[in-house]
Amino acid sequence: MLFAAAAAAAAAALSLAALAGAQSSVALGNATFVAPGVFPTAAFDSYYNNATATDEQPQPVVTNILTGQPFPLALTDPNNIPVNDTADPRTFPPSPLPPSLASPLVQSAFAQIVSIANPNNTGWGNNSNCARCLAGLEVAKALALASSQSVPTLAVELCNYFKISTTCEQTYGVLALGQVLAQVLAAADVAGYDGQNICNNFVSGAPCALPPPSPLNMTGYFAKPKPANATAPAPSGERVKVLHISDFHLDARYANGAEANCTTSQCCRANNNNVHSPDQVLLPAPRFGTFTCDVPYSLGLAALQAIPAVTGAAFDFTIFTGDLVSHDPENELSQSLIEYTEASLYSLYKKYLGSGPLYAAIGNHDSYNQAEDAPLALGDQLGQANLSTQFSWNYDTLAALWEADDWISSDVAAQARAHYGAYSVARPDGLRIITLNTDLWYKANYFNYINMTKSDPSGMLRFVADELQAAEDAGERAWIIGHVLSGWDGSNPLNNPTNLFYQIVDRYSPHVVAAIFFGHTHEDQFQIFYANNATNASAASAAAVAWIAPSITPLTNLNSGFRMYEVDGKTFDILDAHTWYTNVSTFPALDNQTAVGPTFHYEYNTRQAYGTNISWPATAPLNATWWHRVTEQFEQHPALVQQFTTYQGKSSVLSPNCTSDLCVAAKICYMRSGSAPLGKLCTQGFGSVQ
Ligand SMILES: *[C@@H]1O[C@H](CO)[C@@H](O)[C@H](O)[C@H]1NC(C)=O
Ligand SMILES: *[C@@H]1O[C@H](CO)[C@@H](O)[C@H](O)[C@H]1NC(C)=O
Ligand SMILES: *[C@@H]1O[C@H](CO)[C@@H](O)[C@H](O)[C@H]1NC(C)=O
Ligand SMILES: *[C@@H]1O[C@H](CO)[C@@H](O)[C@H](O)[C@H]1NC(C)=O
Ligand SMILES: *[C@@H]1O[C@H](CO)[C@@H](O)[C@H](O)[C@H]1NC(C)=O
Ligand SMILES: *[C@@H]1O[C@H](CO)[C@@H](O)[C@H](O)[C@H]1NC(C)=O
Ligand SMILES: *[C@@H]1O[C@H](CO)[C@@H](O)[C@H](O)[C@H]1NC(C)=O
Ligand SMILES: *[C@@H]1O[C@H](CO)[C@@H](O)[C@H](O)[C@H]1NC(C)=O
Ligand SMILES: *[C@@H]1O[C@H](CO)[C@@H](O)[C@H](O)[C@H]1NC(C)=O
Ligand SMILES: *[C@@H]1O[C@H](CO)[C@@H](O)[C@H](O)[C@H]1NC(C)=O
Ligand SMILES: *[C@@H]1O[C@H](CO)[C@@H](O)[C@H](O)[C@H]1NC(C)=O
Ligand SMILES: *[C@@H]1O[C@H](CO)[C@@H](O)[C@H](O)[C@H]1NC(C)=O
Repeated sequence: MLFAAAAAAAAAALSLAALAGAQSSVALGNATFVAPGVFPTAAFDSYYNNATATDEQPQPVVTNILTGQPFPLALTDPNNIPVNDTADPRTFPPSPLPPSLASPLVQSAFAQIVSIANPNNTGWGNNSNCARCLAGLEVAKALALASSQSVPTLAVELCNYFKISTTCEQTYGVLALGQVLAQVLAAADVAGYDGQNICNNFVSGAPCALPPPSPLNMTGYFAKPKPANATAPAPSGERVKVLHISDFHLDARYANGAEANCTTSQCCRANNNNVHSPDQVLLPAPRFGTFTCDVPYSLGLAALQAIPAVTGAAFDFTIFTGDLVSHDPENELSQSLIEYTEASLYSLYKKYLGSGPLYAAIGNHDSYNQAEDAPLALGDQLGQANLSTQFSWNYDTLAALWEADDWISSDVAAQARAHYGAYSVARPDGLRIITLNTDLWYKANYFNYINMTKSDPSGMLRFVADELQAAEDAGERAWIIGHVLSGWDGSNPLNNPTNLFYQIVDRYSPHVVAAIFFGHTHEDQFQIFYANNATNASAASAAAVAWIAPSITPLTNLNSGFRMYEVDGKTFDILDAHTWYTNVSTFPALDNQTAVGPTFHYEYNTRQAYGTNISWPATAPLNATWWHRVTEQFEQHPALVQQFTTYQGKSSVLSPNCTSDLCVAAKICYMRSGSAPLGKLCTQGFGSVQ
């Protein structure tokens, strides 16, 4: 029966371009691709195990580019997952007292915070929960300044006392986030704006209300005023192909047959079960992956083989909007696991995605500790240089990999090492690619809670503005590539940096900024930027659009997918977009056979899916004006929002519907929100289909 299915799929594999010339002006590949049932051993030079066996996933030998040494099997062995990594350096700010002498201080801080938190004790500030939380932070800060290495002990004791987590040591201990908390407490204005944000986002019950965005003074920010003739150039008629992939989330520790219906943390892992059924697996992890798990090598290679087959390959270049690494709990992560995954996946991208460079942005999972990246000014502020260089191991690794793959020059690699792994490339064809490390505006990065009123403490946005000015001066167009989206429902990014980013995008759109790209949500979405901070969102004021790519990982409840753009080879406007997916609900049936792997299908053509009622020449780009008119269609025809919602989850059988008036209105509002403050004005609760 499976052979019959494979034959039927092959018969259906007509060239899309031949099928409907109107759908595409460039040659696409086959409409459907059935991945081989056996792992392609040519993917890597050598393996620790039998790569074509079906009872376990392949374990390739991957080499650390900085040391030249192979990563040991023990790093990814699914049957013996390393925990509590002790090899990585821990970075604490300078302080006079070693932990051995600070035990009375820790106990005193603990007692004070418990007392402050007790609502029966009056006399703390104005006695509101927020004032109590800020007072508690001040006590913790005093400890951080006296004995920074004692902060993890205090954090774990408080976590246990207030029952914040069942895994306090693994999450806040000295081998996990403890060092980060010590640094942030030492540097942040915990009694003011920084503290209010910390108490809103990180303390259970959100004792402080989210403070409003800080006033933004743009006077003198830009080197030059916006030119009067700031319009996008006319189409050239030349088309090139650009691949967009995102959120790969390779799980090299995936265990076939392990519990896919686990109750906490990362499923499909030999060390994780369902507490209600500890002895019997309820939902065995299929060999090709499942809705609750990240990507096993078998699915990863199926997708990488499908990409050239269905797109027809020959990309001018590829963009990758971040997140290579799996969603492990903090104490199963390590620098080594990040470095391993970076080396493994970039080598596979190089091998399977063919011609043209790949431009990549760091995702929040591509760091250790997860989501953390520190502003370079931290070392100066606290008087210890290694606080500024504590993430250099990662930027150095990425820059070396990208340069070795011939995707960026040594000059650009040097820039990436010095700029948080982000860089700018002026391509000879007139496109400037500017990448961002969006951990520096991600809500979950504790380091962003230092100097929060400043909007750009890392200097990342100054860099973007300067690069866009250089592009304007040179008559170039620019693409901005990042991971965590700047807007949508506003639930992921921070207010101040994305409020500033929005003003920068407005200043350089539409004449310079041709498009923006993000990932992170795992879902197929978009967001529009308007002139004048969206005070009058209309087709006339629409200035730029961000495309948010579907993920390779099915986590959570999603299908796996990717996208290819047809791009004007001179203006770099997007002319058409094609999206493919594979149906994850079919994967269990692929176990116990090796004839076929997952089938990848053409999902939709963006112009055709949303544009049929819009008068728009076939040669005109899918720019912000077009997307705004799409949202007007969505207002008039709510069924189109349901169609959007189906694609949002990559046609997953598990995606909920969006048919209520409330949901339809909320989604249209997210589509029109390019910054966190704007997204937060929308009705919340409809952002995700997971
Ligand atoms: C690897 O596993 C496959 C599938 O079980 C088997 O056919 C093959 O003989 C194995 N190869 C080796 C070298 O054991
Ligand atoms: C606060 O006082 C009430 C009444 O005396 C008591 O029941 C409660 O346990 C106290 N709460 C705490 C946290 O001490
Ligand atoms: C890892 O740390 C946790 C928390 O301290 C502890 O419970 C666990 O036993 C440790 N595991 C190993 C293998 O050391
Ligand atoms: C805004 O910044 C400019 C230039 O730095 C400064 O001259 C002006 O006083 C600032 N305005 C406000 C309201 O702070
Ligand atoms: C705007 O005008 C300047 C100066 O004349 C010119 O160099 C530039 O190419 C024009 N830009 C556009 C987008 O027309
Ligand atoms: C998953 O586990 C939950 C209990 O944690 C159970 O209610 C549910 O039926 C299970 N689902 C499957 C598909 O096994
Ligand atoms: C398309 O499918 C045909 C028939 O299966 C195959 O021969 C051809 O190589 C495929 N094309 C691509 C680009 O994979
Ligand atoms: C925070 O702001 C102060 C005052 O401007 C500055 O000295 C310090 O370097 C800043 N620190 C960080 C981490 O941005
Ligand atoms: C989008 O393209 C149309 C058609 O070429 C053009 O009229 C419009 O000004 C463009 N919008 C933007 C924001 O560049
Ligand atoms: C695959 O084979 C195993 C072992 O025979 C069996 O338990 C399992 O149900 C089979 N899975 C499917 C999807 O047929
Ligand atoms: C969504 O609506 C479709 C069509 O009305 C229906 O078949 C499907 O079951 C619904 N899905 C959910 C999750 O409610
Ligand atoms: C843009 O609008 C948002 C939402 O009203 C607001 O919070 C923010 O301060 C505005 N930004 C500017 C620069 O006016």
